[in-house]
Amino acid sequence: MSHYLCGMSKEIVVSGIRSTGHLHLGNYFGAIQNYIKMQEGYDCYFFVADYHSLTTHPDPKDLKQNVFRVVAENIASGLDPEKVALYAQSDVPEIPELYLMLNMMAYVGELEKVPTFKEKVRSQPENVNAGLLTYPVLMAADILIHRAVKVPVGKDQEQHLEMARNFAHRFNTRYGEFFPEPQVFRFNADAVKIMSLDGVGKMSKSENVNATIYLSDDDDTIKKKIMKAKTDAGPTEPNAEMPDYIQNLFLLMQLTSKPETTDTFRNAFNSCNIRYGDMKKQLAEDMAAFVRPIREHASELQKDETKIRAILKAGAEKARASASITIEGARKRIGINYYIPNA
Ligand code: TRP
Repeated sequence: MSHYLCGMSKEIVVSGIRSTGHLHLGNYFGAIQNYIKMQEGYDCYFFVADYHSLTTHPDPKDLKQNVFRVVAENIASGLDPEKVALYAQSDVPEIPELYLMLNMMAYVGELEKVPTFKEKVRSQPENVNAGLLTYPVLMAADILIHRAVKVPVGKDQEQHLEMARNFAHRFNTRYGEFFPEPQVFRFNADAVKIMSLDGVGKMSKSENVNATIYLSDDDDTIKKKIMKAKTDAGPTEPNAEMPDYIQNLFLLMQLTSKPETTDTFRNAFNSCNIRYGDMKKQLAEDMAAFVRPIREHASELQKDETKIRAILKAGAEKARASASITIEGARKRIGINYYIPNA
């Protein structure tokens, strides 16, 4: 059925994708797979948050490559630019316009109290710019520009989303009901959480590149990383409880190997016969086979700049069609309506 026929009745979902860093398995199973499920039933606006990345002054030479890589990796993972609006934030000028308007609803005191801001003040005291302070306002503009109702984000972004609701509410109180208050979208309550292979924290937070599997890693790199994953001497009694780093290996196996394979090793664990070396060898094989087509598709796409540009252009057009309606409504409510365009 045509996307446009049922588009009106679908709920609107917005999510921003960071343009810094390579995508890894934590992103893939934690976020991208949810995007892929959502693209079937919702009106999705997914964008690369390139303006947000400017807070750390990336080298101008790197910016385009970062954006193109993220786009290519998401498409290679299954995101379908025919089904969703996939665009770069900076291609939608209505976003900074709404950001300006929302800045008038945001108080410096509340922005200074945001934990992510305080963390930046601690970690980069030499660059505490106003863009960092107003990061949550730009994020609110990203969401409210499409009058979205659902936003798939991790725990670390929930406070930003709460601020988006506050800004929407303040706008509505001052100028009349206009913005829905966006809610966190939890696709399933027990979303997949992948731990770092060294057993220290989540893969998404890990700074240890050797304990993180990237979608751009080649077969050998994947195998080396898996073979080095943390294990121990094995269980000493039948049906023992699994340490979290072993559970994590089983989770990765469940996500990438055949069910029989996982069962075999689970039984071996339960009967104290497990050989982690063998398990990791099998997992390394299966993981390499799983990542290979994604990596190859992404790298092929990344070389086709014409295609990526066309995808981003089409995405920006879809996003601007929705964004311009919001901006027109917001201007009118604020009282910015001095002349009739094209009259
Ligand atoms: N701040 C988000 C992150 O760091 C990225 C982001 C920017 C975002 N704008 C957004 C997420 C709007 C959801 C909605 O991951």
